[in-house]
Amino acid sequence: MNEITVRAHTNIALIKYWGKANVPLNIPTTSSLSMTLDRFYTTTSVAFADQDQLVLNGQTADATRVHNFLDMLRAKHGDFPAVLVTSTNHVPTAAGLASSASSFAALTGAMFRLLELSEDLTEMSRIARRGSGSASRSLFGNFAVWNKGENDASSYTESFYDEDIQLSMLVAEISSAQKKMPSTRGMQLAQTAPTYRSWVEKSARQLEEMKAAIRQADIEKIGLLAEDNALGMHEQNRSCAEPFDYFTEDTRRIIAFAQKCYKSGLLAFVTIDAGPNVKIITDKATEKILLEKFRANFPEITFDVAHAGGGLEYL
Ligand code: PMV
Repeated sequence: MNEITVRAHTNIALIKYWGKANVPLNIPTTSSLSMTLDRFYTTTSVAFADQDQLVLNGQTADATRVHNFLDMLRAKHGDFPAVLVTSTNHVPTAAGLASSASSFAALTGAMFRLLELSEDLTEMSRIARRGSGSASRSLFGNFAVWNKGENDASSYTESFYDEDIQLSMLVAEISSAQKKMPSTRGMQLAQTAPTYRSWVEKSARQLEEMKAAIRQADIEKIGLLAEDNALGMHEQNRSCAEPFDYFTEDTRRIIAFAQKCYKSGLLAFVTIDAGPNVKIITDKATEKILLEKFRANFPEITFDVAHAGGGLEYL
């Protein structure tokens, strides 16, 4: 039996994707920029089977999303038999660490090889995007930019800067519980916020500034931009038609502590996705001292350190 196994890492957006211009196609309202992490990943195997099936972390799981994804692939690249997908997440599932990104990136990579499709990363990113928008960025190592585009063909991701710039992330695992507001619904609501349009416009300016800061390996600039962009994203959630908030009390305490560290002269900035967990942006020279401070102040919270990781790997 032909079985293909692939590993893809999660990525953290420094300029966020938070809003869809086209929901079924996952065409975003903003272009986004991410760093792929070495620490968290998904390993996925695929093989032809009797029916589309998902075994997730050793247990049979609801295959609806996988089945829809495979059907989209059948419609786009020609029919193929049912597929057994066996996936293991080395990521706290659905708590703002975006396991959907590494999952759909790994599944895309595995399916392209199983179907013997030409492994063109641009086309693969369009397909991964359909599974989960952020997945399109997890095909690439280091820094990737997802160009929002305006249709299926023009909305794709490409490698932006494939070098390690000594950026380090401390990941505070506040909660590994399932998130309460799914990202698609959260985005639709956020788009009703009165300041949403100005957040989108600001994001386009910040993307250009972020690109320059990465090329210069200016971690302070990167951190300031990423923090402003992320806090702006969460502001939309709090001021939309049906307000909601991913932050918990711990989220707020960690943000406040990071900001205190920055005021005291340390590189420490935050970014937060669709969950309560906080990622603290710093550089490799500062990570140890920062980690000690955070662990001492929040003994009940787990902190991991992640660096830039690689793109898709066939195992
Ligand atoms: O790819 P999705 O639908 O899980 O959306 C993820 C959105 C954020 O993680 C909150 C931001 C981003 O750009 O990754």
